[in-house]
Amino acid sequence: MRCAGEGLIALVPTMGALHAGHASLIHSAVQQSPGRVAVSIFVNPTQFGPNEDFARYPRTFSADCDLAEREGATVIFAPAVEEMYPPGAVTFVDVESLSERLDGKSRPGHFRGVATVVTKLLIAAEPDLAFFGQKDAAQVAILRKLVTDLRLGTKLVVCPIVREADGLAMSSRNRYLTQEERKQALALSQAVQAVVRLANEGERRSDVLIDAAREIFSKKPMVQVDYIELVNWETLLPLNTADHGSLFAVAASVGNTRLIDNTILQ
Ligand code: PAJ
Repeated sequence: MRCAGEGLIALVPTMGALHAGHASLIHSAVQQSPGRVAVSIFVNPTQFGPNEDFARYPRTFSADCDLAEREGATVIFAPAVEEMYPPGAVTFVDVESLSERLDGKSRPGHFRGVATVVTKLLIAAEPDLAFFGQKDAAQVAILRKLVTDLRLGTKLVVCPIVREADGLAMSSRNRYLTQEERKQALALSQAVQAVVRLANEGERRSDVLIDAAREIFSKKPMVQVDYIELVNWETLLPLNTADHGSLFAVAASVGNTRLIDNTILQ
């Protein structure tokens, strides 16, 4: 995408169902590139597994346009599936090894789908800056590697996790939760907070931090833990000891809804 005049061009890739987390990305993009912010809205089929929620993923296009406009976005790009994937397309982008870690372990093919669609978006828009949320911390690590390896020339900007008042990380999937599930979903942010507290008190042993999180999950019967991990944020490989910049991440299913949360330790 090329706009008239001077200044950086920013892209905010999303799958729609926009909430305050997405709004914060658009807001940051507008601050850095006023008048030159494109928001893409595309529910990307290749990043959903066969038993995942592609069909029922919330689609709220007109409210999304209102929110994006209100935040100051200039362009909304909402392609049809055939525009992003010409019929018969067999070309994919795979960030090897990293794509099998964290969420990639239980969602095979997910990060291949993410890497492929983000590559297509970056090629189409040629942005100077692309904005992503720390909420999807493994996605950030994979996209950083992708941009470096393919020398795409776009700078990734990572924005902090936006939370509900009680701590739950905002997610388009939160709307799937029943009232009781919504209460139990707090286990994720509580586990993250507990680990932050311990780490700030000087606890650096990975097994102790992970056990503290596990203890919190054990009190929530509707919450099925997928992973609790302390990893290097660049390689996504497990660490024995927490360091400045280590990623502590959790994923769990609450009923049928898969949620994630994380923190970068100081
Ligand atoms: P989606 O889940 O719509 O998220 C779009 C962007 O918003 C991502 O960078 C995500 O990390 C960020 N985001 C979501 N919830 C957030 C929160 N609570 N606080 C801060 N940022 C938040 O992530 C995707 O879409 C897709 O995988 C995509 C990159 C668009 C590729 O299809």
